[in-house]
Amino acid sequence: MDAIYILSSVGAVTCLIFLVKVVRHLHCYLRPSSLHQCNPLGKESWALVTGASDGIGLGFAQELCDRGFNVFLHGRNHQKLLRVQEQLKAQWPTSKTKVIVFDAGKPTEEMSEIVREVGNANLTVLVNNVGGAIGVIATEYIKLQDMTHQQVQDLVSVNALFPAQLTRELLPILQKNAPSVILNMSSAAAHGLPWLSVYGATKGFVGTFSTALNAEMRAGGHQVEVIGVIVGSVKSPGNAHVDEGFFIPSSRTMARSALERVGCGRSQLWTYWRHRLQGFVFEWLPERLLQLVFIKRVRILIARRDEKQKPA
Ligand SMILES: NC(=O)c1ccc[n+]([C@@H]2O[C@H](COP(=O)([O-])OP(=O)(O)OC[C@H]3O[C@@H](n4cnc5c(N)ncnc54)[C@H](OP(=O)(O)O)[C@@H]3O)[C@@H](O)[C@H]2O)c1
Repeated sequence: MDAIYILSSVGAVTCLIFLVKVVRHLHCYLRPSSLHQCNPLGKESWALVTGASDGIGLGFAQELCDRGFNVFLHGRNHQKLLRVQEQLKAQWPTSKTKVIVFDAGKPTEEMSEIVREVGNANLTVLVNNVGGAIGVIATEYIKLQDMTHQQVQDLVSVNALFPAQLTRELLPILQKNAPSVILNMSSAAAHGLPWLSVYGATKGFVGTFSTALNAEMRAGGHQVEVIGVIVGSVKSPGNAHVDEGFFIPSSRTMARSALERVGCGRSQLWTYWRHRLQGFVFEWLPERLLQLVFIKRVRILIARRDEKQKPA
């Protein structure tokens, strides 16, 4: 009798914990975003998006203009950024944009130049989006021993060092203008995909960096929300060999999902709910089985890439 009582009590508590988790998750995806608090009426608020000339970064720039923000567009190709600026101006004439050119592969002390470009603007949103593999080292899936010294350096510089240094430079401004928000683009690759070891590790860095900085802001009483956005597969120039589908959103949809989660109180989150479903599988599958799934999936992607690259 006692054993039955203990077992049913354990079962009831487990069910309750599970239910609380489910409700908290649902709340996170269903509650309205708090982003508007970073753009109060009567104030001209600015966002800075890194890697804004294409892909998810461009999606962020469009979504932020749509929400009445002015946007600093960061990238490395001045002409391309000017074209994006023109497109945004045509679609959102009331939103201002400014172009910032800086190679994220060289996060030197000259980065303080970006702070000077921001000047006295009421910057309340920082999107550390720049990154990826193919746009940085011209290949995505590659064995570690096949990488050059420079490729490793470049991946770490663009995906990890640049966002950390830029955030360090801009944090005093974001604290002064609070409430403000920092969105850092992490990746499902942080779970350990084969042939993406260095890239995946930089995304693990981004995730931990976000969680630690989130705690640091809370400890200091700063209203600066820091979210590590865990991204699954998204259609973009950096992930061109996939087609949009149920689990693969467009770049703009991905960006929108991240902005919609602002205020949900998580320091790391799969902001796109369909990616979240995939995330559950990552968390629940035994590691050895998950590895097999990853190996099979990446082999399929490599084969698909090779097929598309074959001369016609
Ligand atoms: N797409 C996905 O499936 C996926 C999945 C997980 C995580 N993510 C993450 O999401 C973020 C955006 O990915 P994406 O797929 O949208 O990338 P993307 O299509 O390759 O676009 C990257 C953007 O960053 C810019 N950029 C690249 N290297 C730069 C450098 N050295 N200096 C300045 N700008 C540079 C590019 O400029 P140009 O226009 O000049 O090339 C472009 O605007 C990345 O952090 C990526 O790791 C993406």
